[in-house]
Amino acid sequence: MNVLGIETSCDETSAAVVGAGRILSNVVSSQIELHRPYGGVVPELASRRHLELIDAVIQTALQEAGVSLDEIDAVAATYGPGLASSLLIGLNTAKGTAVAAGLPFIGINHLEAHLYSPLLESGPKDPPLVDSQLPRDRQALLPMIALIVSGGHTILAHVTGLGQHVILGQTVDDAAGEAFDKVAKLLQLGYPGGPEVDRLAQSGNPRAITFPRSMLDDTGYNFSFSGLKTAVLYYLKKHPVTGNLTPTSNDVCASFQEAVVDVLVGKILRAAEEYRVSTLSLAGGVSMNSRLRARLAAECSRRGLRLLLASPQLCTDNAGMIAALAHHKLCAGMRSPFSLEVAPSAGLGVAA
Ligand code: KG4
Ligand code: ZN
Repeated sequence: MNVLGIETSCDETSAAVVGAGRILSNVVSSQIELHRPYGGVVPELASRRHLELIDAVIQTALQEAGVSLDEIDAVAATYGPGLASSLLIGLNTAKGTAVAAGLPFIGINHLEAHLYSPLLESGPKDPPLVDSQLPRDRQALLPMIALIVSGGHTILAHVTGLGQHVILGQTVDDAAGEAFDKVAKLLQLGYPGGPEVDRLAQSGNPRAITFPRSMLDDTGYNFSFSGLKTAVLYYLKKHPVTGNLTPTSNDVCASFQEAVVDVLVGKILRAAEEYRVSTLSLAGGVSMNSRLRARLAAECSRRGLRLLLASPQLCTDNAGMIAALAHHKLCAGMRSPFSLEVAPSAGLGVAA
């Protein structure tokens, strides 16, 4: 089965083709340059750019996969969560393409695609993703504790199978990526801020400043990052970063990042212990963070836990994860009605 997947939930225009159970192409056209002058995504500009790019991005995805539209068997698109005007472009394009070609259509929850992305990839040596359930080698990795850390979400979930997950906790205010982006703004670093903070932190001292580890000792699994961002704001008001004097921007970045990583790593490990799970996974844009990956990998090897990381192209927003999840659902007989609407604030649910 060849599946065309489309993702336009925020500022990446993306299309992908899954065929013979593998991701054959995953084209992402980033709008970072468009939004950079504004220091954040401007919804009106994002949707207009999606509209301009979507046809060409789909054509490129088909070309790179070596598949023509006639050879596509089903069309999938993200229906939520995300920016309403951006979601509309991808969802309507998918529905229109499916109707015109007489193909089945399925709407995919963006968070569910992030959640399963570390399991959905099929490398050249892995068995293809042909089963309607997860392939046996991947099913054997479950249950797992999965952490989604992106610009819009921070969610910890207990996953026992495809479409079988329970949310253990999530952020009560800012998402981890949002905190990275806001701290980068305070330090007048580039946009998006996460990768810049990560880069500067590599030459900073993570113990230079003690920032709060909100809710780390809480018995639950919720997160809060807004107090941490405010603590950085007040710290910078009192100790302006000037030239080469301490604290340097690098020290602020490293100390802030360490506080975020302490909380994320602390909670995922505690969940693994409480739920007696030996597989952990990280997904979403912030899962690219080098300190988070290194700290969690070290803890996992010390405790004999398995760590699944999505490859970089499946971490940030992309249609590959949408098409791959759609492939499983379509194989299991699932379809969406053409009346499916965008759901900008959809939670981590099962697709309609
Ligand atoms: O998953 P994603 O592409 O989009 C959403 O669905 O939100 O995540 C984007 C977020 C941004 O906040 C960005 O700053 C953050 O991921 N990010 C990082 C890193 N790379 C991307 N945060 C920390 N360290 C990184 N290396
Ligand atoms: Zn995302």
